Amino acid sequence: MSEGSTAPDLSIATLGAARIDSPLAGMLDAWRTTEHYVNEDDRVLLDDTLARATARGSSLAELPSFEPCGPRRKIFFDPSKTRAGIVTCGGLCPGLNDVIRGLVRSLTYQYGVRRVTGFRNGYQGFIASYAHDIVELTPDNVGDITGEGGTVLGTSRGHQDPVEIVECLERLNINVLFVIGGDGSMRGAMQIAEVAAERAMRISVVGIPKTIDNDIPYIDQSFGFQTAFSRAAESIRAVNTEAKSTPNGVGLVKLMGRHSGFIAAYAALANHDADVVLIPEVPFGLDGDDGLLAYLARRVKQYGHAVVVVGEGAGQELLADPKPGRRSDRSPAATDASGNAKLNDIGPYLRERIAEHLGAAGLSSSIRYIDPSYAIRSVPANAYDKAYCLRLAHHAVHAAMSGRTSMVVGRVRRRFVHLPISVAVSRRNQVDPHGDLWMAVLEATGQPMRFGTPPTPPRPRKPKVAVS
Ligand code: F6P
Repeated sequence: MSEGSTAPDLSIATLGAARIDSPLAGMLDAWRTTEHYVNEDDRVLLDDTLARATARGSSLAELPSFEPCGPRRKIFFDPSKTRAGIVTCGGLCPGLNDVIRGLVRSLTYQYGVRRVTGFRNGYQGFIASYAHDIVELTPDNVGDITGEGGTVLGTSRGHQDPVEIVECLERLNINVLFVIGGDGSMRGAMQIAEVAAERAMRISVVGIPKTIDNDIPYIDQSFGFQTAFSRAAESIRAVNTEAKSTPNGVGLVKLMGRHSGFIAAYAALANHDADVVLIPEVPFGLDGDDGLLAYLARRVKQYGHAVVVVGEGAGQELLADPKPGRRSDRSPAATDASGNAKLNDIGPYLRERIAEHLGAAGLSSSIRYIDPSYAIRSVPANAYDKAYCLRLAHHAVHAAMSGRTSMVVGRVRRRFVHLPISVAVSRRNQVDPHGDLWMAVLEATGQPMRFGTPPTPPRPRKPKVAVS
């Protein structure tokens, strides 16, 4: 976190006073007796060090803080008259089915909600022209879905008209909507909540943020991330075995992570096989005695092999100024349906440059290249992520039933909290090149703090029309 002494507005919007007795109220008295329970009137502090809290210069009660997750004694929606909707949006992530199952079971068994509707294929599911059917979700038909990766509801990228979405919710009498998606989808969820509010409709929109890139700010870890990097670590292990078994072998693994190198960093830490980790947050240069290529050549000479892990967003500045005649994909930058920058492919480019360099250095080398790509995110969640997904789902249901809206659930330093969507999408979580995670990577790999002189990133083009 680097917001210094200014803090975001962490207040959570509600649809109105909660006046209905919660079916869970009876359990609260017992829970309150444990030190792990955060009373609903209590707050979870944003700052976790004395220095940071002191630097705010405010009283204890004024310190920035999150609203805790958890069941409320009084709720806003009458469960017997509540209809819930669930949608999964964006790219896949391990645990989507676990979240769906957790939501359905909590709504049904904990609150007694009788109708839960699944929308198919992301936000398209609300839009008449796509003609996707809807599906009624019950504890029975979601009972067995968590053994599979992906999402039983299907997913898609892309913005859809929030007005049409709200009109669809209105037609179906849906009062609470759960959106499981990434930052683009969460912006969409925020717009749905805004349109509903403009129309004075009491619809709660609660997000369960999803991304294997682990780039959501404030929260400890996004669900599915641990599964994804564990699967990625298997690919590193495989290239290591290959590289070690070949004279002058080089293993190269490209891992997902568009702007954040958490998958590459954690997968590399998992088993100590990587000699170099390259992430989007730390630019690097290939050439010169202190460049990556010379470093690899020295390593291969000394140890007989080397393993490089590269996050897909790393080294984009190298690809921005292509040398003519190379095979690598360097199409001009564009965006996908979610508005994410499409990246040039660093993997084949590095493979080509490493092979050329080692060849020129007289090291005949075999390069083993693995791009596990979607394989790391299409797998079922591991046991840790399954438990995490379930807990997030329960907390999302408690929040929605209490009438909170335009918010997501997340865990901040082991406490489950509510975050306004606006805060969850306000910036991107990235590996801090001066932080302890990156230091751990440097220690584990033994790689230098920087490689060579990275090319200066191209200046953004001036807009054709002046924007005021
Ligand atoms: O956002 C998560 C992510 O897995 C990124 O790491 C990756 O760049 C992207 O999704 C690829 O997804 P898709 O091919 O679905 O656009």
